[in-house]
Amino acid sequence: MRTRTLGTTGPQVSALGLGCMGMSALYGEADRTESVATIHAALESGVTLLDTGDFYGMGHNELLINEALRSAAPEARERALTSVKFGALRTVEGGFTGYDGRPNAVKNFAAYSLQRLGTDHIDIYRIARVDPDVPIEETVGAIQELVDAGHVRHIGLSEVGARTLRRAAAVAPISDLQIEYSLISRGIEAEILPTARELGIGVTAYGVLSRGLISGHFSADRQLAPGDFRGMSPRFQGDNLRHNLDLVDALRKVAEVKGVSVAQTAIAWVLAQGPRHDTAIVPLVGARTRTRLDEALGALDVTLDASDLAAIEQAVPADAAAGERYPAAQMGHLDSER
Ligand SMILES: NC(=O)c1ccc[n+]([C@@H]2O[C@H](COP(=O)([O-])OP(=O)(O)OC[C@H]3O[C@@H](n4cnc5c(N)ncnc54)[C@H](OP(=O)(O)O)[C@@H]3O)[C@@H](O)[C@H]2O)c1
Repeated sequence: MRTRTLGTTGPQVSALGLGCMGMSALYGEADRTESVATIHAALESGVTLLDTGDFYGMGHNELLINEALRSAAPEARERALTSVKFGALRTVEGGFTGYDGRPNAVKNFAAYSLQRLGTDHIDIYRIARVDPDVPIEETVGAIQELVDAGHVRHIGLSEVGARTLRRAAAVAPISDLQIEYSLISRGIEAEILPTARELGIGVTAYGVLSRGLISGHFSADRQLAPGDFRGMSPRFQGDNLRHNLDLVDALRKVAEVKGVSVAQTAIAWVLAQGPRHDTAIVPLVGARTRTRLDEALGALDVTLDASDLAAIEQAVPADAAAGERYPAAQMGHLDSER
């Protein structure tokens, strides 16, 4: 497994990370036994970075990772690095009611996460969305205190824009920015990516398959379970969905010429952007089964030269997607979109 160092101060991680969210929330039912087996398979293939959030299934995802780590081979467990998001406030019914980045809340969230994960430290800790009522300096300062106390190793950020990146980096070393980045979500290229590079901050990219939309496995007649994020996502609705799946058909033609799958092409494209932008970009793939994981790992063997990249970007031009990447209310929480 190739590795990348996240920014100038962050940890060395596998070139591909595993995002565990879908094993607990947002994409319908997941099979617990298969989820644990998928985490084991990822660790055995050399994936070291496991991404989670304390609010993914209200603790369910951290407990799942705990179970997987406890039952993993000792060498694999030792290599595992946890990247944890906190701050989202939930209701019993599963709603989201805001974010809490106050210093005492940060330490409270961390205490519970450490207990659920069954570890003595979190490798990268970040607030999921900026709390509009708390200056980012205070939230990051509280994480720095957790670093000083040995409970956290590195500080990350999530979905913040260039200005917030600068403010946070002025307070403490930031290892990476976690943010959506894919063939159909290229907004970070204009300002955020150059700022991250300038500040020596790596990028952990999520939604590289646009939540399955550009994986080659999604179809217009797919029935979504109640509560599935995609049931509310503008890109998965009506005409938008049909338009976006036409882009996938164009991408499929390029993938077929290369002899690889659509998902592998989309992931390999993100992998190829690190060298292009001279910064570490580590895709977090949301595989929930070993079959999907195997496919995703295959992207590491796909080499895209300049003509391949041009063909891919001709099939799926920047800004070609129809629909915003989040519903309007959630777009409002994205510091990165201001
Ligand atoms: N910081 C943030 O704001 C934020 C937001 C969202 C996510 N994240 C993190 O990023 C991770 C990845 O995000 P994501 O799950 O939205 O991204 P994704 O990788 O774009 O989408 C994952 C979905 O794609 C489908 N898929 C089809 N083929 C696949 C393949 N070969 N490999 C993997 N998935 C395949 C899967 O659906 P099926 O299982 O139905 O096939 C899966 O549920 C999350 O798990 C989470 O840790 C962070």
